[in-house]
Amino acid sequence: MQVTRFETLRYRAPDRKRIGDIFCEEPPSARTIVPGARYHARMDYTDVVASRRMVRSFSDVPVDGQVLLGLLDQARRAPSAGFAQGVDFIVLRGERETERWWEATTTPDWWERNPRRSSLRRAPCIVIPLANMDRYRSRYSEPDKMRALRAANRSARATPDSWPVPYWFGDAAFATMLLLLGAVDSGLGAAFLGCFRGEQQLRRALLLPGSVKVFGAVLLGHPAPDDPPGSPTTHERRDLRSVVHWGAWNGDAPDP
Ligand SMILES: Cc1cc2nc3c(=O)[nH]c(=O)nc-3n(C[C@H](O)[C@H](O)[C@H](O)COP(=O)(O)O)c2cc1C
Repeated sequence: MQVTRFETLRYRAPDRKRIGDIFCEEPPSARTIVPGARYHARMDYTDVVASRRMVRSFSDVPVDGQVLLGLLDQARRAPSAGFAQGVDFIVLRGERETERWWEATTTPDWWERNPRRSSLRRAPCIVIPLANMDRYRSRYSEPDKMRALRAANRSARATPDSWPVPYWFGDAAFATMLLLLGAVDSGLGAAFLGCFRGEQQLRRALLLPGSVKVFGAVLLGHPAPDDPPGSPTTHERRDLRSVVHWGAWNGDAPDP
């Protein structure tokens, strides 16, 4: 991946239609700028991770269909327990579809208490990662996995209790992280929201089968200039020394 860096240009001529995102490996010169297009450089991995943050205000510019497909294709490559590949995605595009998420999971009271969050609602795309339990049950009923589960649990059937950790949520999180990082890499903004209320209503609106669990929602779009600061501006990020325990919980850091 090319490592050339430069500022994202938001060059828009009011009388020309936007023609889509353009990835550049060199800063565009004035002569190569296409009116209405948004340019951004491919970033290296370190920059993608460092600049990822939750975006909570979006412009109404839609997410390019090819870019969206590319992000979902990357998310599909996330690791999964037993290679069960138990993460599915519901994609909501445009106001009519994204309202299915907002209608189900928010209340007028919530919007009133969070006035700034109305800019969230402009997100032109919402991807809902789903943990698909049936795929784990089925994969872990195959002979190679069944032997291991049986040995660990002395049980002949794979049930949700057979796993020491509900790996389907871990797998959904891995896939979600790829979406969040991929969004940055594509010059987009993204935010993850938990599904704190209205899950039953959402399930009905999205016609979800009983075996899938809503993991949350990834809002995707182009960040608006008024994007409000998030918790990391009011809460300190834990430093490396306090997060990493060397050898054991009370271990000392090795000499560099
Ligand atoms: C499981 C989970 C649920 C979250 N739910 C929400 C949410 O409902 N609303 C919100 O604004 N942010 C939500 N966040 C975003 C966190 O607040 C955010 O990741 C954290 O403050 C760190 O900020 P950063 O991601 O911008 O670095 C959630 C994050 C996670 C991992």
